Order: sequence, then structure tokens, then C-alpha cells
Amino acid sequence: MSTLELLLWGALPYMVIVFCITATIWRYLTNPFSWTSKSSEMMEKRMLRWGSLLFHIGIFAVICGHIAGLLVPVEFYRWIGLSDGGYHLMAIAGGLPAGIIAFAGAVILLVRRYVVRRVRATSSIGDWLALAMLIIVIVTGILATSANAVNHSGFDYRTTINPWLRGLIVFQPDPVLMQTVPMNFKVHILLTFVLYCVFPFTRLVHMLSMPLGYLKRSYVLYRRRDGSVYPNQEQKKERAM
Ligand code: HEM
Repeated sequence: MSTLELLLWGALPYMVIVFCITATIWRYLTNPFSWTSKSSEMMEKRMLRWGSLLFHIGIFAVICGHIAGLLVPVEFYRWIGLSDGGYHLMAIAGGLPAGIIAFAGAVILLVRRYVVRRVRATSSIGDWLALAMLIIVIVTGILATSANAVNHSGFDYRTTINPWLRGLIVFQPDPVLMQTVPMNFKVHILLTFVLYCVFPFTRLVHMLSMPLGYLKRSYVLYRRRDGSVYPNQEQKKERAM
């Protein structure tokens, strides 16, 4: 194994994580008021509703799939009697649609950011970067999964990437495990490293705040200076006509 590969799969992941955590804490401490999802709902609702819904449903399913495939040891699946073929069929049938839904949502959000003038005007470089990196990572994931599904090369990430990642988590890195991993998966993983490095400088930090109370909080009502709620029932009817 070359020195470069040792660095990429043994040292780089730790450098990325240390950078990501330090920069995130630094932002929280030095600029707490910037810690927000920076809602642009007041500027445009329809595309946001679709884009955000599809993206969040898709990405949630993708994350669950990654936990099942990359953190659960292959021995567990064999122990419960799930064959390798059965597992991979499930992973493709669940993972690919999830990836495509997340991709569709992210593209709607990107297009919205560009075509809605007011959203574009209030977008920062971080907003563009976050969406672009998410789309790039999602696309490389979908491509790697699709190529693996049609290749039948016998490559199984549950016996390579999976123990590599778990080794990193318990501070016993084994970069050799990455040696036989196809290039498209390596590209996917390296691009996620870029995503983790830009994460602290974007609105993506809002996911660390886990706003679960949000789901059952009361609606926020915007009132005009005269005290009426906008849009009131008459205005709603007028707009519907
Ligand atoms: C170190 C972190 C990551 C590793 C090691 C990793 C590895 C993988 C692997 C092995 C697959 C193939 C799954 C299969 O064939 O069933 C995959 C697919 C995929 N990955 Fe990742 N990934 C990581 C992070 C991410 C992140 C952060 C995103 C999204 C922002 C992402 C998005 C996707 C998508 C959309 C797919 C294809 C569909 C799916 O299987 O869900 N990955 N990734």
C-alpha cells in the first residue's frame, strides 16, 4: 500500500473530523446568531415545500441505509439468516430510490435558489456550496451503487468499507481494508470529506440542533401593525378567486 493511500484512508479521515468539529465549535462560540437554517419560506413556499420534503425524506432514508450497511457488521446479517444476495437486493431496492428522492429534492432547492430572485439575492456562497456538495455526494453515491449492482464483481462493502469505518470509530484504523475498494466508492467517500469540511461554514449546522420540538410547536403567526393576521380569511378567499 502506497504512502498516499495510507494517508488517505488512515490519517485524512481524522484530520477532516478534527477540522469539522473544531470549526463547528468555533462558529457556535464566536457567532451563535448565525446558527440557523436561515429559512427563506417567506420569499417562496411552493418549490421549498416540495424540495425540502423530498430532500429530507430521501436523505433520512439514505442515512438509515448507511447505518445498516456501514456500521452493522456483516456477521449480524448472516446470524439472522439474511443471505448476501438478499441483503444486496434490499440495499439496492431501498437505497437507490432513497438517493434519487434526495437528489430530486436537492435539485429543486438549487433551482429555486437560482430562479427566485429574492432567494438568489439573499444567498451566500455557503448556501450554494452546501447544495452543490450535497448533490455531488449524492450523485457519486448513486453512481457507485448502480455500477456495483450491474458489475457483479463480487465486491462487498460490508467486508471492506464497513470494517474500515468501524475501525476508524474505535481508533484502530486499518487502511489496508480500502485497498480493493473500487474507485467510484473511493471518490464518493473522499467527496464526503469535502462536504464535512464545508459543513461548519454553511446552514447545514442546523441539523445539529435537532429541532424536534418544531414538529409539534404552534404556528408562527405574522401580524400586521394594525393587529390583523396576514393572510386573513377574506384575503385568502380573494386570493383563491
Ligand atoms: C464516510 C461516509 C460515507 C461512506 C463510507 C459512504 C459509503 C457508501 C456506500 C458503501 C454506498 C453503497 C450503498 C449500496 O450499494 O447499497 C453509498 C451509497 C450512497 N451514498 Fe454514501 N457514504 C458516506 C457518506 C454519504 C453522505 C454524507 C451522503 C449524502 C449526503 C451519501 C449519499 C449516498 C447515496 C445517495 C448513495 C446511493 C443510494 C444509497 O445507497 O442510499 N453518502 N455510500
